[in-house]
Amino acid sequence: MNFKKNILCIGAGYVGGPTMAMIAFKCPQYRVTVVDINPKRIAEWNSDELPIFEPGLDEIILATRGKNLFFTTDIQSSIRDNDIIFVSVNTPTKTFGAGAGMAADLQYWEKTARQILQFSGSSKIVIEKSTLPVKTAQAMENILRNVHSSTFDVLSNPEFLAEGTAIKDLENPDRILIGSRETESGLKAREALVEIYANWIPREKIITSNIWSSELSKIVSNAFLAQRISSINAISALCEKTDADIAEVARAVGMDSRIGNKYLNSSVGFGGSCFKKDILNLVYLCRHYGLNEVADYWEGVVKINQYQQERFTLNMLTAMFNTLADKKICLFGVSFKANTGDTRESPAIFIAKKLLEEKAEIVITDPQALRNAKADLAGIDGNVSFIEDPYRAAAGCHAIAVLTEWDLYRDLDYQKIYDTMIKPASLFDGRNIVDHRKCHKIGFNVYPIGKPALTHF
Ligand code: NAD
Ligand code: UGA
Repeated sequence: MNFKKNILCIGAGYVGGPTMAMIAFKCPQYRVTVVDINPKRIAEWNSDELPIFEPGLDEIILATRGKNLFFTTDIQSSIRDNDIIFVSVNTPTKTFGAGAGMAADLQYWEKTARQILQFSGSSKIVIEKSTLPVKTAQAMENILRNVHSSTFDVLSNPEFLAEGTAIKDLENPDRILIGSRETESGLKAREALVEIYANWIPREKIITSNIWSSELSKIVSNAFLAQRISSINAISALCEKTDADIAEVARAVGMDSRIGNKYLNSSVGFGGSCFKKDILNLVYLCRHYGLNEVADYWEGVVKINQYQQERFTLNMLTAMFNTLADKKICLFGVSFKANTGDTRESPAIFIAKKLLEEKAEIVITDPQALRNAKADLAGIDGNVSFIEDPYRAAAGCHAIAVLTEWDLYRDLDYQKIYDTMIKPASLFDGRNIVDHRKCHKIGFNVYPIGKPALTHF
């Protein structure tokens, strides 16, 4: 079959896989290929057991794979045969050298640029899908410039999907942002990308900007979202000291239409692969440009998030008579949020490690994330086990800590759980999803976030 466009995505991760599946699903007239250097990941994308759990993803993969969606490790011919290339490789925080712990590690990004240069035989549109520091497109252009007769137009098209709702977000995004150079060929490339999205997204939601605004908007969006969570979490600490209730405060504040009610759920802290890394990258950029006050302001968002996780663990220690040694604690949830198996930067992993340092015995339960959690905690000193059934996991424990807001944990039979636990039994609700009064009535000592504790002492 002759396809109208041949589209490639380099990087078959949490973004590359679902994003390309959606394009293939909405645009049967295009041939979409996803390539990765990791053969195991590609084999999983080609199997019945996809490498990531995402509600609704299996269905669209089944509908498109082998028809107009292909997963491969053949980078050379993929680059050669496609004219539109999305790059969605990982851009983690640098762990070495200058900027370690703050700056974005651009090595995967740069390698990709060099591969595009090496294997291209014709002109290409190269699209930044990864989240990148502002001005990265310039580096991409410099690598691709003038080496052979082909031309390369670099666009920025950041991805705003959230894990757990990726398919919904891709199908009906708030906006699609495309940044380009304002040259004739830049604008032509931008139109080619607009045309792809316009297959299912209303034109008024496809916005364009200069390339640097686009790169920066992505990081700033994440910084603003994370800032709201740190703001409400900071106030949760004050609520715990003053008998105010964070849910009541969030409700009252969020009903102001200028503020809005989203991202005001107080929690054990935000996790995920991006918020922290993107804010640290923003902080690094600001310092690079000598904007130390701006850098300090945003760094505070990450510091409060760290504080919230540490505070939660310390509250557990204090509530359990200042010793956790040999106490058995069950963690309800280990993914960084509900509806994903992703544990990257999950507060639950941080808390598990802290509890193990206190010599507690940990039992971790989660409906989707146990495989990742096992890998994260492999080689860590201490007694840790993984049990999928929450009832079996909690049996014989001194305490439960609810760390992920899976619906499953709202609706458990807490009387049945309480009956199998060691007394006094404690319930630390790091997501405020459990019925606290009911659990207190059952006999638990209940410690929510940002609300007075309900104890029997
Ligand atoms: P990921 O680690 O899940 O996937 C990246 C993939 O790129 C990996 O499979 C890796 O093997 C592959 N890769 C690296 N170098 C390669 C190369 N030279 N050739 C081919 N493949 C290569 O990462 P992710 O979560 O999909 O994130 C990708 C980018 O998207 C990041 O910049 C991230 O900040 C951004 N982002 C992520 C999310 C999210 O929800 N995870 C949302 C929006 C934006
Ligand atoms: C976030 C953004 O929402 C996406 O727009 C963005 O594309 C993505 O980062 C990215 O660049 O990677 P994600 O991290 O998948 O998406 O998930 P979120 O729903 O934003 O949650 C992030 C963390 O904040 C989770 O740990 C969640 O539990 C926590 N959170 C969220 C709260 O603690 N309280 C809230 O009110 C909302």
